[in-house]
Amino acid sequence: MAIAAAANGNAQKDKLIIFDTTLRDGEQSPGVSLNTEEKIEIAKQLARLGVDVLEAGFPIASVGDFEAVQKIAREAGNLMEGREQIGVPMTICGLARATPNDIKRAAEALQPAPRRRIHTFLATSDLHLKYKLKIDREECVRRAVEAVTLARSLVDEVEFSPEDASRSDPDFLCHVLGKVIEAGATTLNIPDTVGYNMPEEYGALIKHLMENTPGADKVIFSTHCHNDLGLATANTIAGIRNGARQVEVTINGIGERAGNTAMEEVVMAVHTHPNAFPVRHTITTQLIYPTSVMVSELSGMMVQPNKAIVGRNAFLHESGIHQDGILKNRQTYEIISAETVGVTDIALVLGKHSGRNAFRERCKELGHAAIDEEAFQKAFVDFKALCDKKKTVTDADILEILGTVPTVPTKHVEL
Ligand code: KIV
Ligand code: ZN
Repeated sequence: MAIAAAANGNAQKDKLIIFDTTLRDGEQSPGVSLNTEEKIEIAKQLARLGVDVLEAGFPIASVGDFEAVQKIAREAGNLMEGREQIGVPMTICGLARATPNDIKRAAEALQPAPRRRIHTFLATSDLHLKYKLKIDREECVRRAVEAVTLARSLVDEVEFSPEDASRSDPDFLCHVLGKVIEAGATTLNIPDTVGYNMPEEYGALIKHLMENTPGADKVIFSTHCHNDLGLATANTIAGIRNGARQVEVTINGIGERAGNTAMEEVVMAVHTHPNAFPVRHTITTQLIYPTSVMVSELSGMMVQPNKAIVGRNAFLHESGIHQDGILKNRQTYEIISAETVGVTDIALVLGKHSGRNAFRERCKELGHAAIDEEAFQKAFVDFKALCDKKKTVTDADILEILGTVPTVPTKHVEL
């Protein structure tokens, strides 16, 4: 399905729909539990960030989840602040198993939102059908069609996910998906539920389904990848390059087990390599880091320091050679400017790998711009000696070293 293209440099490209599931799959991370107020705060931030579809929760799961989805639908479903470029409010989505009670409960919770979506799912792999659901393929198709038909009678946007799609028989998948398209599904999401696929495999699966499902041209295909092999972002990218136009992602990659695809990684890959993708994104990248910090603080899920894009070290340089390059031209060792993703408080980390240039620069920043050269060399030796004893040398340590260093006497010029 072609999506209206915006009037910018990428006008001819399809828009990549960002479906954020931080508050649903992300909240399923072991140890994470957000209260309603925290969920609303995150939902509003995701609206400003430019998310297109927000999966706000699983309304049947508990009364708390139902109320949270309802409040998000009311309070974040109408927000337009920061979304001028997108032109529409965020669609609010609720998850539902393929059963009438789940679907009706989701529709009720979503009621206050102007744009609503029900996301219903049913496993399709023989493994899940036999051991988990104890039903055959025929019953699977019947339930999927019934669920989508009911959901479509309640809301305009219906997404269907064949759970464990990556381990399902592709021909059976084409059959189920064709039937749910007939029943009114508008988005087909293809989950690599257990993070099993390799990128080429996942890309080929999306291509196969788009080419062989009856009615595929009437719907959007979506990726949903888990990170059990650390391949979630690579798989998602393979999905986009093979025709998917929606990606399901979470902030910081939080989610079940090893997590979901990290939004910041996919968006910045598209942003950094516009020529490698047939899509454009409409995320306000400057809000990526502040959103990451908010989600990390409220969820209690710390971001690993070397995490791509949003890790504490992502824009820090310790090696002397790198610091020297950065001081001369940041592009020598940075492919994304920190400001582009909203990181503002960057500094060179001074440690035993730092060189003279970085040390001199920090001295200047600390108010010691005019140090006698011989004294500077001695201070640098003292600094290196301290680095051997301490992992991180602080500004206070440097000031202490500099405290004894004579500065070059100011020259008085007679006018
Ligand atoms: O990973 C998965 O299969 C899911 C479904 C509910 C879409 O999260
Ligand atoms: Zn999932």
